[in-house]
Amino acid sequence: MGLITLSGLTPSNSGIHLGNYFGAVRQWIDLQDQGGAHYFIASYHALTTVRSAEVLSSNISGIAMDYLALGLDPEKAVIYRQEDVPEVCELSWILSTVTPMGLLERCHAYKDKVAQGLSADHGLFAYPVLMAADILIVRSHRVPVGQDQKQHVEVTRDIAGKFNQTFAEVFPIPEPLIFEGQAAKVPGIDGQKMSKSYGNDLCIFDSEKKLKKKVMSIVTDSQGVEDPKNPEGNTICDLYKLVATEDQVAEMDDKMRATGIGYGYGHAKQQLFDSLLEYFADARTRRAKLEADPEQVEEILHEGARRVRPVIEETMDAVRSAVGVRSTHLTRD
Ligand code: ADP
Ligand code: TRP
Repeated sequence: MGLITLSGLTPSNSGIHLGNYFGAVRQWIDLQDQGGAHYFIASYHALTTVRSAEVLSSNISGIAMDYLALGLDPEKAVIYRQEDVPEVCELSWILSTVTPMGLLERCHAYKDKVAQGLSADHGLFAYPVLMAADILIVRSHRVPVGQDQKQHVEVTRDIAGKFNQTFAEVFPIPEPLIFEGQAAKVPGIDGQKMSKSYGNDLCIFDSEKKLKKKVMSIVTDSQGVEDPKNPEGNTICDLYKLVATEDQVAEMDDKMRATGIGYGYGHAKQQLFDSLLEYFADARTRRAKLEADPEQVEEILHEGARRVRPVIEETMDAVRSAVGVRSTHLTRD
């Protein structure tokens, strides 16, 4: 049997941003050619922040369309929604019984919230256990995620080891697949790491108008059009590198460094905006088509749920029998 790969995104905002794409999703697309790929929408995780049914359900269909438009291919990967495999909640409980409190207390999302003086919900505290359940329920070997999710995959490794030791060898120990380099920390429009929670993100499928407004508001220093500018560590240049050719990048660098040629940050932002639209042109066209055909998206998700089901049932049979519970098999569908 080949390697099983699993990853997912939380539909806690309305669309995939450049950080999500270059930090994670682009690698998923490369990996789907190797077979065994599972990509899901982590709806239950989003409940830790989204508390409107309308917003959540629209985010979920939005992310599904984003996945498909960007190139996740239902012929190559199993694409499904977390709520179509509710057994992850059952597994999450079982795993929580072998998860030390200290392991979760060290996790950053929870720790950060508590450090800010905010009270955290149990869901946020237990978030990494549910993530472990997502990974282990398909008995995944590798988990391609961005750097900031590495800790969660390490927690999963600990939990899987603990379960295997306590009950029976059910789970492979998954490896995080972390992609380094340019895309490891995509900057947002304020120069900090791009993140939906900082409101500094550029969403790939935003309207042209909104995208342009955001690109034009990228924070720069106060060098004027005739002044030389440093392209190193410059947010516009860093984003441009992701979507432009090497020649285009070299040309922008030269223009930035030049004195008295009338090339300002506004010009550079316009070039970045044009390149973004060009780079994602096909994806944007596909996204518009999918939006016009929500039934097609629903069918793909339904098929994903159907394909992942036998794996889920096999794992849960092994888990239930390892811990000593049995359930009457009620067939779904
Ligand atoms: P956000 O920070 O916007 O909430 P998530 O935490 O949902 O994003 O991240 C989803 C995936 O995208 C993760 O694998 C994460 O590592 C990756 N990712 C998010 N933001 C960036 C970024 N700015 N640069 C690189 N990768 C990122
Ligand atoms: N926590 C991940 C994020 O915010 C989403 C996620 C949930 C996930 N379960 C997962 C990622 C399992 C990889 C594997 O991006």
